[in-house]
Amino acid sequence: MPDSFFFFFLLFLSFLFQLGEPTGASFSGHPSCNPHGDPPVYGDCWYNCTLDDIAGEDKKHRLRKALGQTADWFRRALAVEPVKGNLRLSGYSACGQDGGVQLPREYVEEGVANADLILLVTTRPTTGNTLAWAVACERDQWGRAIAGHVNVAPRHLTAEAETLLSATLIHEVMHVLGFDPHAFAHFRDDRKRRRIRVTEQATDEKLGRMVTKVVLPRVIMHSRYHYGAFSQNFTGLELEDGGGRGTSGSHWEKRLLMNEIMTGSVDTRSVVSKMTLALLEDSGWYRANYSMSDHLDWGRNQGTEFVTSPCNHWKGPYHCNATQISGCTYNREAEGYCPIVSYSGELPQWARYFPEANKGGQSSLADYCTYFVAYSDGSCTDTNSARAPDRMLGEMRGSGSRCMASSLVRSGFVRGSTTQGNGCYQHRCVNNTLEVAVDGIWKVCPESGGPVQYPGFNGELICPAYHELCHVDPVPLSGQCPNSCNFNGDCIDGKCHCFLGFEGYDCNLRSCPNNCVGHGECLADGVCECENGYTGIDCSTAVCDEQCSLHGGVCNNGECEFRCSDYAGYTCQSSSSLLPNLLVCKDVLEKDALGQHCAPSELSILQQLEEVVVMPNYQRLFPGGPRKFLNYIRGRDCDGAAKRLACWISIQKCDKDGDNRLRVCHSACQSYNLACGASLDCSDQTLFSNESEGEGLCTGWGELDSWL
Ligand SMILES: *[C@@H]1O[C@H](CO)[C@@H](O)[C@H](O)[C@H]1NC(C)=O
Ligand SMILES: *[C@@H]1O[C@H](CO)[C@@H](O)[C@H](O)[C@H]1NC(C)=O
Ligand SMILES: *[C@@H]1O[C@H](CO)[C@@H](O)[C@H](O)[C@H]1NC(C)=O
Ligand SMILES: *[C@@H]1O[C@H](CO)[C@@H](O)[C@H](O)[C@H]1NC(C)=O
Ligand SMILES: *[C@@H]1O[C@H](CO)[C@@H](O)[C@H](O)[C@H]1NC(C)=O
Ligand SMILES: *[C@@H]1O[C@H](CO)[C@@H](O)[C@H](O)[C@H]1NC(C)=O
Ligand SMILES: [Zn+2]
Repeated sequence: MPDSFFFFFLLFLSFLFQLGEPTGASFSGHPSCNPHGDPPVYGDCWYNCTLDDIAGEDKKHRLRKALGQTADWFRRALAVEPVKGNLRLSGYSACGQDGGVQLPREYVEEGVANADLILLVTTRPTTGNTLAWAVACERDQWGRAIAGHVNVAPRHLTAEAETLLSATLIHEVMHVLGFDPHAFAHFRDDRKRRRIRVTEQATDEKLGRMVTKVVLPRVIMHSRYHYGAFSQNFTGLELEDGGGRGTSGSHWEKRLLMNEIMTGSVDTRSVVSKMTLALLEDSGWYRANYSMSDHLDWGRNQGTEFVTSPCNHWKGPYHCNATQISGCTYNREAEGYCPIVSYSGELPQWARYFPEANKGGQSSLADYCTYFVAYSDGSCTDTNSARAPDRMLGEMRGSGSRCMASSLVRSGFVRGSTTQGNGCYQHRCVNNTLEVAVDGIWKVCPESGGPVQYPGFNGELICPAYHELCHVDPVPLSGQCPNSCNFNGDCIDGKCHCFLGFEGYDCNLRSCPNNCVGHGECLADGVCECENGYTGIDCSTAVCDEQCSLHGGVCNNGECEFRCSDYAGYTCQSSSSLLPNLLVCKDVLEKDALGQHCAPSELSILQQLEEVVVMPNYQRLFPGGPRKFLNYIRGRDCDGAAKRLACWISIQKCDKDGDNRLRVCHSACQSYNLACGASLDCSDQTLFSNESEGEGLCTGWGELDSWL
């Protein structure tokens, strides 16, 4: 990658382990689960737990090992602009869900050296068949997650589930890193400004329903190469709409990406596609190493129609319509059957692929599409799990074998019930042709596929097309662009549309956009080197003060924004409901009894807010040391002012829609300086509003009058 000067391949994950007990238990005063009791303790547990729900040393060891591998994987797959100095967390609230995890004090005070992301990993039991879940809980000033909470259910930390665990952890960490609608709101473009368009919701006329598509530039670009969709009809990659809360909107559509790791159901054969890496790169926080992506077969080179049409229009092995027929799975690696389910209720209108309104495929995540699913013993490639090959059909199983349609049967025998069927046959790609062997005899296939006969056999074998099994890259498809635009631009109908900073008919030239806008120097290789205080590919974006992120703000072109909606669990709450939990802020809240404040909604987190944010702010603001004598004289005024200011900084007023930038009033800062003889910088726009603020625009308005 030419511009790795900016990013280093370095994504250090730092892990903190917690025991498997829900933290909520200590707050509610209930005893924790005791699976050793015989029978198990009922009632006081959040659910009936058994020994499987306790993470013993073996399970923890397994998890620790898998986490180490996960960290290694991400270190190679993603680069991030390294954190300068220690990674410090604000500690605004407990990190995560389900009571979260209390941040160790040193993470807030000293920070963590050589870390770009801190994952707090717990092993709490889950209900249902949830393997694991994860959320981001703190972001840096650009909105990138710097801390996250991952929970893995001990029930699933068994030796048998080890490969599944690796896939699950990669999936969950992807959510923390940015594959999450909450994170989408913070995504940055190449200039490092908040992206205006990440997803687009629209009614799709062909599909006959509402879909949400990811419209990020690199996601679209890599999707085009995957599907062979170079038509302008392809406008974005769909997100999952099934699966309910927690799945819908935060995964790729299973109908289109099937065994991709970021679809709503993960299994041991899940793969990481370029599209997922592209989504993270388009966040503006990471550089992706695309050689870490796996080969995704589903939908490969199926064209624009595959992505834009309903699945009953799909061709070949991607579609089946009767349970009684067997066939080859989409990648020809197995023989399969066609599962069609009769549901007790009617399927949604758009999923009616059959005359009967209740008939459809078995997966709601995959939009009830019907396609061949491998028999458990149907693998052509894996001899361990598959049934013995049928000698009568001349079959052979092994890594070089693939499933093909065939009516072959050894002379003197008859095929069973069906004359047309399929079997596993060896294949090889030599001399630009596809060859298939039956009973050890190799025959050359027609280039576009078709029937071939074999001596000693009646019937015929239907060869697949050459390009289907012999990967020629790139497959001759219409609409391809010169040199694939060097992956520095989108390719539509044969024409390159270069990303910002690239030029030329195939986007192979770097260029300084707008000559670095006067805030940087254009280096010889066409890359802007920005002066201090500016960033982005064209140096057009102002950087915020580092105070911004320490107070939970997010920077957008020099402006530090604080939005309740950016923080998981922060809501608008009335002062009176906060009162019992924020005792330090009692005076402040009482005075503003009718006010609505932006604060955590959970009791345990409120208690921590007071301890971890309000009190340290208060102590810092209350001038000690040399000012002691002055304080003695001024007494309660300064104490009060410091308290107020600490409270205002910690909980801020909600605006009408709870989504605007929030800051403490300039006058509140001035009142504090006056009362305490302090010289806090009230023009610090990352914390305090400007002098001409009015009520509603900031928190603590009018304090000046009442305190003097
Ligand atoms: C826990 O087990 C008891 C006894 O078998 C049962 O009555 C109760 O419904 C169970 N509770 C849950 C949440 O499964
Ligand atoms: C990118 O991925 C490849 C393939 O795994 C790996 O060999 C290479 O070291 C990675 N690059 C970096 C800079 O980590
Ligand atoms: C694009 O969509 C239009 C309208 O559905 C259709 O007529 C056209 O053939 C499509 N073009 C391609 C290249 O798929
Ligand atoms: C099922 O598929 C076959 C082949 O694609 C087609 O000929 C047939 O009409 C389809 N039947 C129904 C009921 O859709
Ligand atoms: C490949 O094809 C050429 C010409 O068609 C032929 O001379 C050669 O023997 C072939 N090689 C193999 C390994 O089949
Ligand atoms: C100060 O705030 C007012 C009201 O929001 C705004 O109109 C004005 O432009 C701001 N001034 C500066 C210097 O930011
Ligand atoms: Zn998920």
